[in-house]
Formats: sequence, structure tokens, C-alpha cells
Amino acid sequence: MPEAPTTEPWAGTPPVPHALRPGAMPEAYMAKIAEGDERYWVPIVENVSSKPVWISPTLNMWADVLMATKPCIVNRHYHPKPIWAYTISGKWAYLEHEWTATAGDFIFEAPGESHTLVAYEHEDPMKVFFVVSGPLMWLNENGESVGHFDVFDYMELARTHYDAVGIGADYVDTLIR
Ligand SMILES: [Fe+2]
Repeated sequence: MPEAPTTEPWAGTPPVPHALRPGAMPEAYMAKIAEGDERYWVPIVENVSSKPVWISPTLNMWADVLMATKPCIVNRHYHPKPIWAYTISGKWAYLEHEWTATAGDFIFEAPGESHTLVAYEHEDPMKVFFVVSGPLMWLNENGESVGHFDVFDYMELARTHYDAVGIGADYVDTLIR
């Protein structure tokens, strides 16, 4: 049961019985995903890290909070699959587009797009909630593919990091749905 109602008009309403179908996986809940213990951010490159909040090996997808603590080129890549983004704090952009995103801004990246993600100088770190479909194809400055990164690379990186910081590699398993 969630928190008990007080004056809410739905007080007394029962939950749906048998809410979870046999074989269905339980929901994933994580409080205050952009805050807390810094060990949960997995380093990607210098000043850039990612806190996974949901991982799906079967869909080759994940959701994370991507953080850049200093202005930098976060990375340059091509997407064969779609991406959704919601800006929590800081300022960021793709060099290939007209807009500059700050807190509250939403972006959908259509499949078939290459871009260079940059973080700006700002009083707050860049924190963006991303729902990512793998793979990302890393690009050089000419837009040529020089490598790839998918959910399996992400899980390996996260397991190694969580093991090293004392959280334990198995923490990754709790994020998988
Ligand atoms: Fe992207």
C-alpha cells in the first residue's frame, strides 16, 4: 500500500485485485533519481557519468540520468534507433540543431540521426533523463563510425564500476526488466 490518504476524495478505494499477471515482472521504483550517493553514477568519460535506472537486455534499451559535471563534448554518435530525453538541470545541446536545452526541456531523437552532445557552462551540472535504444554508433569528426555501444556494453561497464565502489555488480540485476 502507498501512503494512506487523508482528505483525498479517493480514500477508501481498494486496489485492483491480482494486479500483476502471472509471469509479469514487478514494477521498478527509484526515488529521486537525479540525487543521492555519487557512487551510483557510472563513469563514461572524464566529467561524464550515467546513473542507470532501468535496463532491458531483450529490448537493447536503458534509461539513465546522464550527468556532465563540467562543460565538455559529452560524445558524438549515430542512432539507428529512437531516443527520448528530459532535461533535469544544466544546459546542453547537439551541435547539429538550433535549440539549447535547459531544465524542463524534452527532446525526441528520431532514428537515423548523428549528433554531437555538448554540455555548457552552468551553475548546475548537466543532468538529463534519457531513454536510450541501443546501439549508439560512436563517430569521429567526419561522422564515420569508429565503434559501438549497446546495452551489453552498458551493463558490463556498470557491473565493473559497482563492483569497484562496493555496491556490488549484482546491483545491475535489480534494474533489469
Ligand atoms: Fe544521442
